[in-house]
Amino acid sequence: MVQRDHIQIVIVGHVDHGKSTVIGRLLADTHSLPNGKLEQVKAMCERNARPFEYAFLLDALKDEQAQGITIDTARCFFKTKKRDYIVLDAPGHIEFLKNMVTGAARAEAALLVIDAHEGIQENSRRHGYLVSMLGINQVTVLVNKMDLVNHSESVFETIRKEYTEFLTHIHVKPVSFIPISAMQGENLTKRSSSMAWYKGKHVLEQLDAFEKKGAVDTLPFRFPVQDIYKFTAQNDERRIVAGTIETGSIQVGDAVCFLPSGKEVTISTIEAFNMPKKSTARAGEAVGFTLSEQIYIRPGEVMVRKTEPQPLTSSRFKANVFWMGKAPLIPGKKYKLKLATARVSVTLIQLISVLDASELEASHVKKQVDRHDVAECIFETAKPIAFDSVSTIESMGRFVMVDHYEIAGGGIISEAVSDQTSLVKEHVRARELAWDKSSISTEERIDRYKHRAKFVLITGKRGIGKRRLAKALERELFRENYYAYYLGVSSLAQGIGSEAPDDTFERENQIQRLGELARIMTESGLIFITTISEMDDDDIQKLKLLNEPFEIMVFNVGPNDFNTFEVDGIIDTTKSDDRNVALMVKRLREKEIFLDFQI
Ligand code: GTP
Ligand code: MG
Repeated sequence: MVQRDHIQIVIVGHVDHGKSTVIGRLLADTHSLPNGKLEQVKAMCERNARPFEYAFLLDALKDEQAQGITIDTARCFFKTKKRDYIVLDAPGHIEFLKNMVTGAARAEAALLVIDAHEGIQENSRRHGYLVSMLGINQVTVLVNKMDLVNHSESVFETIRKEYTEFLTHIHVKPVSFIPISAMQGENLTKRSSSMAWYKGKHVLEQLDAFEKKGAVDTLPFRFPVQDIYKFTAQNDERRIVAGTIETGSIQVGDAVCFLPSGKEVTISTIEAFNMPKKSTARAGEAVGFTLSEQIYIRPGEVMVRKTEPQPLTSSRFKANVFWMGKAPLIPGKKYKLKLATARVSVTLIQLISVLDASELEASHVKKQVDRHDVAECIFETAKPIAFDSVSTIESMGRFVMVDHYEIAGGGIISEAVSDQTSLVKEHVRARELAWDKSSISTEERIDRYKHRAKFVLITGKRGIGKRRLAKALERELFRENYYAYYLGVSSLAQGIGSEAPDDTFERENQIQRLGELARIMTESGLIFITTISEMDDDDIQKLKLLNEPFEIMVFNVGPNDFNTFEVDGIIDTTKSDDRNVALMVKRLREKEIFLDFQI
């Protein structure tokens, strides 16, 4: 049997503008109701001397469903020849929003109902805004109750013009406007003779014309790295990069790139658990890859194909969030963000607008996002992350925010924002301004110590001998009358260099603390030496910034870990420690730490 396509549609509009009538009518006219339901409801109305309403059909269905076990009263199902529809009637805005932002519900198109007689009301606007915030970009406006305005083309045109203006303002491009009478069944599932002036599609045709988002395996390849395993069996250097393919497909031999680090390699093998090796893999599969080169990458990076459209990489992005936390979302506070496999701390840096989801009252003056508010915000993460906008690759544009170990919010990314002025830079500027300087100037210290201060960082793979080298360098510098000091980071705190993904937040904090400490040590005139395993470009940039205005020197033990950052020296572990220390001292001298006792 061929699997039928299905698509979710949300229907919104002002109270009493006819949402339930539209749905009831669609169910009835597409023969999607249980046998005898329509007659049953009509007979009941007759008995109670009430006029029949199509909206009653929904209530009748709800009663019926309520006796079942798992029900979702806000959903209705009907079919056309082309595909199946799930319509979300959205009276409970909060549930709807929650489901939409967390990915539980996924409406791909919206029908927005406006009463022709009453015209555009407050909720017509708010709902339009909501739909746009949720990233639903196929919107059709149903101008309902045309029977009440004599099926007048000019009434329809006035509403179309006015509402199009509003939608343009909020960057929504409506797919179409359809004049209907839900009650009379006009232009719903068949064309109306009383509105011969309307030449467009009727509602059912429009629904069938909505585009279904492409199947996930035809989208660009996205592989969020879950973990990196070492081959232990043959004691070799190979590693398996493991995770689940989110979208797209990949083949052995494809050129790939890891983001945000930017490292490039090709796929050597595709390994699946307890399965023979394979040459291709696609969306939904949990696999491991071995790569042509042993590069250092971290969980949370996204592997993509070089020939396909690339994700965005930034530490700033614009997003719409729905907040569920007990405590409000406030600017400046650190939260944890989870997007695909990335785990990073995140800060709200700009609140563009806040919408109260129960009242749907928009505010541009609120200073925080309260529970059940929807807000458009700019966020900054502690490290750059790779993502897509929700409209290009849904699963790579959705995130959740954690506050105190609880999911406090869900959001969808609309775009990346350039991050020229990062939080770290702002922090450093503020810190320097507030710094209560010592009474002894940097020049006086150089004069006394006969050398400049320096932050010397020795990095490289775990267990490669960095600490031994760092201590040997300290000893040698000390012997040559430099004021040098080695600090083992484990004395500072644990966590730096930890490989466990859950420690990412901890690692960020440690790097921040180390940077601050380096700033103090270099201020005091010392050559401050320390070691950290497996840094990336971003970590180094951060340390460099935090240590400003003093200088940093970086030595990499073993093969270079960095993609763009230029280290001051590569230390060859096949050479003796003495030679390596001599090399480091030489580089330090070249960087004018040693002024030959003159200033
Ligand atoms: P809420 O769920 O309360 O927000 O309302 P709704 O948007 O679902 O409206 P509903 O479908 O319940 O319709 C509200 C009233 O408008 C009902 O009395 C309907 O009979 C009436 N109505 C709906 N469509 C039409 C129409 O095309 N013409 C006329 N004359 N009345 C209509
Ligand atoms: Mg209703």
